This record gives sequence, C-alpha cells and structure tokens, in this order.
Amino acid sequence: MIALEKTALRFDALGVSAPADIAAVFAELRAAASAESAQIRGTDSLESFRVKWLGRRDGICSRITENWLKPAPPEFKKSIGAGLNELRSALEGTIESAKSSVADLSSGPGIDLSLPGVERPVGTHHLIRQTYEEVERIFLSLGFSVVEGPEIETPYYNFEALNIPEFHPARDNMDTFYIEGSGGHLLRTHTSPMQIRTMEKQAPPVRIVVPGKVYRRDNPDATHTYMFHQIEGLAVDNDITFCDFRGTVEHFVREFLGPKVKTRLRPSYFPFTEPSAEVDASCHICGGSGCRTCKHSGWIEMFGAGMVNPAVYGFVNYDPKRLSGFAFGMGVDRLAMLRYGMTDLQVLFQNDVRFLRQFP
Ligand code: PHE
Repeated sequence: MIALEKTALRFDALGVSAPADIAAVFAELRAAASAESAQIRGTDSLESFRVKWLGRRDGICSRITENWLKPAPPEFKKSIGAGLNELRSALEGTIESAKSSVADLSSGPGIDLSLPGVERPVGTHHLIRQTYEEVERIFLSLGFSVVEGPEIETPYYNFEALNIPEFHPARDNMDTFYIEGSGGHLLRTHTSPMQIRTMEKQAPPVRIVVPGKVYRRDNPDATHTYMFHQIEGLAVDNDITFCDFRGTVEHFVREFLGPKVKTRLRPSYFPFTEPSAEVDASCHICGGSGCRTCKHSGWIEMFGAGMVNPAVYGFVNYDPKRLSGFAFGMGVDRLAMLRYGMTDLQVLFQNDVRFLRQFP
C-alpha cells in the first residue's frame, strides 16, 4: 500500500518526474480501492470505506487535492486532475453497487435461503359442516332447495301446528328449554317447525331441506348433547306416493353410506307423519354380519321419517285431499358418527385439533 502512504506526502516528496508516473500512481490507488471494496460486508463497513476514500475532511481524495493537486507545478496539474477524477468516479460506482447488495442483507442477521420454510396449518371445515354439505349435495341433486329458520321458536310452530297439542305425551320426549320472561318462547327441539313456516309462505310443490341447530334438556354423555344438529326434509306435491318416499330415502342412504347398503323401514310414531317410520341401513362397516357399530344386529338406525300427516295441512291451508308428501328429520351428528364408526358424540364438540385433523 505504498500509494496510500504517498497521499499523505507533499507533491514535492512524491518522487515523480513525468505526468506518466502520475498515471501509474493513480492506477495503483484504483487497484487498492477495488481490492478493499471486495471486503465490504454491511452498512457499517460500507460507510467506513466511503469515509476513508471520499470523506470531505480527511478522505484520501481530499488529501490528494490538498497535498498533490494544489502545490503541483502546472505541467503535472492536468494529469493529477484526470487521475483524481477517474479515481473518484470509480469509487462512486463501487459505493453505489455495494449499497444495493448491502440493503438486501441489512434487514436481519442474515437469511439462510436454503432452510425449509415454516409450515402454516390450513384450516378445514368441521366434520359436522362437512356432513351437512354432503347431505345437502345429495338433496340438491334431487331438486330440493336449502332453507333455514329461527332457533328461537313459539310453541305453535314447534308443537301445535305439527299436530302436537298441549299435554300430548310427545312433548315429554323432547324436554324443552323455555326462555324465561319471553312469553312462552322456546329453543326449537327439532327442525320440523320449518315445515310449517315454509308451507305457510309457499304454495305447493315444496321440496326443501333445512339444516340447523336444535336444543333439548339432555345431560351430555356419549350419545347426548343439549345442542345438536338436524337436517329436516319436506316434499309436498299433488301426487307424491309412499314409493317416492321410499325411493328417495334409499337413494339418499346409498349416496351417503355406499352403493352396497340396503335400507329398511320400521314402523314408528311421530304426530306429524302418518304412517311414520324409522329408516335403518344395513351396516356399512360389517356388511350386515354384525359388529360393534351396529351392536351386532347388522342394521343401523339412521333417522325418523314418514308421509306428512294430513292433519298438518289443516294448519297451513293446504288441501289434504289434493296433496301428499313425505318428511324426514336426520341427526347430523349421528350421521357423522355412523359414517366413521365413532362411539363418542362428545368429540364432535371438544374441537381437539388431533381429532379434527382426521377429516381434512
Ligand atoms: N322431528 C323429528 C325428531 O326430531 C324427526 C322427524 C322429522 C320425523 C320429520 C319425521 C318427519 O325426532
């Protein structure tokens, strides 16, 4: 680094005898600057590089101006000026390009682009929502539409208009949450009130499914919760027969549990359907030979259903002589459990991600 030391010297001590020697001195200086710039590693070292070479008071270029250019005899001034300009612009170029590469690194202690990224967990629909969507998909493809209704109901819609008068024993089966001070409002115990609300508003034909939450005063255990999920179905038209009912139910069960599953109807009772039935499916887990899921009977109880009781039409001004139809009410939590052979309903409500993750 002889050249750097030379900058401190007065021109008369520089020991040059011709302008050509000056050019050689500057070439040495440019080489020194370039070697040094290769060591720049961050904003700090870039700044000390700049101060050392271009600093106003004590930078090498300033010192050259003071010590060499000013006192130099006229015949040397031109080559010193040219050498100095060349050195300056080389330094400025070097500093500009160092600035942009340093900026990339200055945001942190250094980024290792070869490290694997952080995996962000992606959410999915809850199993209950997935089950709703599957049931809705099946009925939408049959021409049903999806409607929703209120969770807070009146006894009229929840019971009376469904042919469950006061003191009817069917009210006991559905222990009801009444809302204090509401003048008799209650939390709906099933989605069936929407049968009435829909028929009140709409002339036949009707083909709807109604997803929604329902509430009953049950103590939580492996098969009960005080809030659960149903999906109601209702089809009413001029010429709907028991065969349509049965065919629709069979189609649904096969779509939901698989094409090999058989369906059977068992006589049952609901005040708003007549005749009423429990729909059973042959066990999709064991194929009907008997297993834990079907409690070794080969059959699984799926949902309640039936032909709409003509008494219900009286409440909505439908003509019972001209119209017929069927209705069903499925427990969606139950359907989800059956499908996956689950034995404890509570896991659906605990929202443990280890459980939820199994249903992407
Ligand atoms: N609402 C009945 C229940 O909750 C189910 C049902 C709906 C039965 C429609 C027949 C017809 O138990």
